[in-house]
Amino acid sequence: MQMSFSRAALLAMALSAPLAHAQAEDPLDLKIRNGWAVAAQQDTPIAARSNKASYPILTGTDAAQAWQYAGSGNWISGFFPSSLWMLQAQNATQGWDTRAAAWTTGMGNQSTNTGTHDVGFMVFTPYGNGYRMTGNASYLQTILTTANSLSSRYDPDVGAVRSWGSISDTTNFQVIIDNMMNIELMFWASTHGGSSTLYDRARSHAIKTMQNHVRPDGSSYHLVVYSPTTGAVKSRSTVQGYSDSSTWARGQAWGIYGFTTTYRFTGEQQFLDTARRMADWFIGHLPADKVPFWDFNDPAIPNAPRDSSAAAIAASGLMELSLLETDATRATTYRNAARTLLGAVLSPPYLATLGSPSNTQALLLQSSYHKNEGLYNQGTGWGDYYLLEAMLRARRLPPGSAPLATVGVTASSAQAGNPATGATDNNAATRWSAQGDGQWLRIDLGAGALVHKVGVSFYLGDQRSARFDIETSPDGLAWTPRWQGRSSGQTAGMEYYDIPDASTRYVRIVGHGSTASDWNSVTEIAAY
Ligand code: GLY
Repeated sequence: MQMSFSRAALLAMALSAPLAHAQAEDPLDLKIRNGWAVAAQQDTPIAARSNKASYPILTGTDAAQAWQYAGSGNWISGFFPSSLWMLQAQNATQGWDTRAAAWTTGMGNQSTNTGTHDVGFMVFTPYGNGYRMTGNASYLQTILTTANSLSSRYDPDVGAVRSWGSISDTTNFQVIIDNMMNIELMFWASTHGGSSTLYDRARSHAIKTMQNHVRPDGSSYHLVVYSPTTGAVKSRSTVQGYSDSSTWARGQAWGIYGFTTTYRFTGEQQFLDTARRMADWFIGHLPADKVPFWDFNDPAIPNAPRDSSAAAIAASGLMELSLLETDATRATTYRNAARTLLGAVLSPPYLATLGSPSNTQALLLQSSYHKNEGLYNQGTGWGDYYLLEAMLRARRLPPGSAPLATVGVTASSAQAGNPATGATDNNAATRWSAQGDGQWLRIDLGAGALVHKVGVSFYLGDQRSARFDIETSPDGLAWTPRWQGRSSGQTAGMEYYDIPDASTRYVRIVGHGSTASDWNSVTEIAAY
């Protein structure tokens, strides 16, 4: 039998129960929770559209802020299905997976597109997320095909992947800082069955970008044009920024994110240093409310448009940088900056309003696609996606408090050699494993406590996404569902799942297997 409690009853229980710890909700958690609700509200009617190969890309810049649509060939088109995969990770009971899959399929015809570097954004973002959430082998094949298409734009004389233009252009070889995002596809494919050449080419591209796009002070150029025959730099300039010597906010954010990803795959200090330099410059030049203007050097500031999408991209990149950072002080700086940026764009006037009618059809307001062409103060497909990605990545950030003491652990069943205690012994090398849908693992906090997060790490959690529910109970008999979703599939470390504050003695997860099998395997669980 399942029982749920009213808010008043929960409050009464919270007040009467002896509390091991009582801590106010993290304000950022509340904002993220609201963000998921707004995302579900905004994306539900769009996901229900019958034409699932016509994608929302940009909203108008007028008061209506209504989506405009494009086919799969637009660089922005893959972000909408990607956003639906994010929603599936946060709530696995509402059929977001079916909707995400239906919208992903139409992007597949871009896997053989060799005409642009943007196939990373277009195909890898939806298919990569889809693969993590489903393990669908056909998604992997599509990704590998796309990686080879992108790789065909590599030129050994330049040592980089061509961003814009035809590969037969023998005059100009154009590379934009944005391309640092797309090479993730090549790194990832090289570790998932693709050739090691993909890795070598992506690494070479990152070195060239580090040398030629990033200025000594850590700011960045948008466009570098090379000679395709000699590989020499012909010019450094901007297209979407204010001036050739200015720093376009989104380009700087793409760089932070891209060099962080490159460091994740290579482990090379030079890329960590570059991510740090770009991050430090970005953080050091933010305005008071932390949402950058579209270009850091527009003389019209503070009367210039923002680019909220740059804040969302940087928040997501800085979150990962904080987790990979080898210096503890820097890790704290980047974590705090990521939290601040995320909190800023999850607040008015940047986040869509909850309730009908909302003030936009998008999630995030005040993105800027191309200020020089009058495209600013609008919603964008990538702004919405990177905001959701940052909200999901926030699960990786350790809570501000120590875990509550666990006095006991039990499970519905356990594989021989992998008992329930394997999940509470502070040893990531041991685990609880049980096969089958509905197997549960329960921790006992010994007394009533106010629980606001549940940390769970899964065996091989960086290779498979687990589906599970979090439930709480005052007595171990009557259980209240608190959260039902998926692990990210991106880390074997802890992810900290936010639940509305619950006064409880027992916490359990109910497993529904993973993308690999019907086994449930938890290396550690703790309540906060
Ligand atoms: N990659 C294109 C843009 O950021 O506008």
